[in-house]
Amino acid sequence: MAKLNILRYPDPRLYTVAKAVTQVDARIRQLVDDMLESMYDAEGVGLAATQVDVHERVIVMDTSELRDQPIVLINPELIARSEEMTFGDEGCLSVPAIYDRVHRHARVTARALGRDGELHEFEAEGLLSVCVQHEMDHLIGKVFVEYLSPLKRDRIRTKMLKKARDDERD
Ligand code: NI
Repeated sequence: MAKLNILRYPDPRLYTVAKAVTQVDARIRQLVDDMLESMYDAEGVGLAATQVDVHERVIVMDTSELRDQPIVLINPELIARSEEMTFGDEGCLSVPAIYDRVHRHARVTARALGRDGELHEFEAEGLLSVCVQHEMDHLIGKVFVEYLSPLKRDRIRTKMLKKARDDERD
């Protein structure tokens, strides 16, 4: 297994639209394992392949308290979304230390291939529902800060660029 480098906003590669996975083979299983290791290491609840500069439709998540219930979504699709919405704080491993509120569907039903290559369908609510929507946005090149006002987004962009410069100097 290997830890992968996570792209930081506003890296333009984060705006890439991911392609469908054609076959869940050894290469994809390795990617999944490396993404899980990277997500746990960074203490995140979700990671999309886009964030590690691989532009294929792969997501890993774990919203469990004990961090022992990995979820793998390959070629995910939302087949139902609740009318009811939630509005809660979100963060992202590509935008460290920034949290802000985003509107999301309270419940979603998703269908995806698992690490086993089999099609699975599941309903999600609460944090898991928000996480599925957040990670699926990454696969279409969308970072959560795109939902914020242009003013807030500019501030975050400036802050992130400054942090990147400071990190480089260290
Ligand atoms: Ni994210």
